[in-house]
Amino acid sequence: MSDTPFVAAGEAVAIASDHAGFVLKNVLKGDLEAMGYKVVDLGPEDETSVDYPDFGLSLAREVATGSATAGVLVCGTGIGISIAANREPKVRAALVHSEETAKMSRAHNDANVMAVGARVTEENTARACLKAFFATPFEGGRHARRVDKLSGI
Ligand code: RB5
Repeated sequence: MSDTPFVAAGEAVAIASDHAGFVLKNVLKGDLEAMGYKVVDLGPEDETSVDYPDFGLSLAREVATGSATAGVLVCGTGIGISIAANREPKVRAALVHSEETAKMSRAHNDANVMAVGARVTEENTARACLKAFFATPFEGGRHARRVDKLSGI
């Protein structure tokens, strides 16, 4: 297991939400900036109703093309926006709800996008998830074989 963070300080991390995730997106954006990342905010810019597939896919493309090393997504439950992001084959978006699930999504699944639900997850829990996600390296080994199989689907 490597001690190197999977996103180095100064690298780009994309963030996006829908209207339901807008407020939490801004909180997590501030945390990412404080962690030293270059944050690419893909919107929305306010709480006007929008469609989560548009924002999930836009972030997924940013990660798939390498414009951002990783991404963070927020909608009401985290479900719709993570489904949208996972349509992009290079994205492994994990819907997390606790520090443990955030950590495991990195250690075992090498997730490159963290999704969280603003209507179902307390702000402090979401912030703890974010911290755990970016602090946890991929374990590799037997997990690499399984992640490779995902890439082969
Ligand atoms: C929007 O009302 C809500 O459906 C959306 O934020 C999300 O929870 C969908 O999965």
